[in-house]
Amino acid sequence: MQAKTQAPPAAPATTEFRKALAQYATGVTLITTRTRDGAPAGMTVNSFTSVSLDPPLVLWSVARSASSFEAFRRCSGWLVHVLAGDQLALAQRFATRGADKFGAATAWAEGPGGLPLIAGCVAWFECSPRSQYDEGDHVILVGRVQSFHGAGGNPLIFHGSRWVTDLAEAPLPRQLLKPW
Ligand SMILES: Cc1cc2nc3c(=O)[nH]c(=O)nc-3n(C[C@H](O)[C@H](O)[C@H](O)COP(=O)(O)O)c2cc1C
Repeated sequence: MQAKTQAPPAAPATTEFRKALAQYATGVTLITTRTRDGAPAGMTVNSFTSVSLDPPLVLWSVARSASSFEAFRRCSGWLVHVLAGDQLALAQRFATRGADKFGAATAWAEGPGGLPLIAGCVAWFECSPRSQYDEGDHVILVGRVQSFHGAGGNPLIFHGSRWVTDLAEAPLPRQLLKPW
């Protein structure tokens, strides 16, 4: 028997649409910037993805409804942190509007380009804004990577509206290891 298919939803997106999208497992990032008056700002993001190796480009999409939307849209740089499995509390704090994101519970310092750098992540990418695309209720931000660091370690995963911290891994076969 054929699986039941669903038409894409009319706006606003339905719960079913969000549920289907959530089947796509992703890592979890925390992206920081500074507002025009220099205050630190940041949010939890799973729309982050790589775009190009040469030049080194990445993208993510920011919701127009986010309180830090204007800060990200107008900033001179943003810093993507790929979160570790033990940074779940941080992911939840930075996904909560109005939370004390840069208070004593968050270990951070001034990083490259003066951007807030959060300790303990598995990788980070400091980016300068390159282009923006208005799409629906989000804006896609493309950035050029200016500096990066890949410490490695156990990543935090998001799947089906759940955090996953324990992974069963298998190595990629050698013929697939070349860059694509
Ligand atoms: C796992 C996860 C992934 C998220 N990914 C995004 C995203 O890609 N883009 C976005 O705009 N919001 C995303 N959010 C929601 C924001 O983190 C949340 O709305 C946050 O409160 C925004 O911060 P602000 O309103 O203080 O700016 C995500 C939330 C979670 C829990």
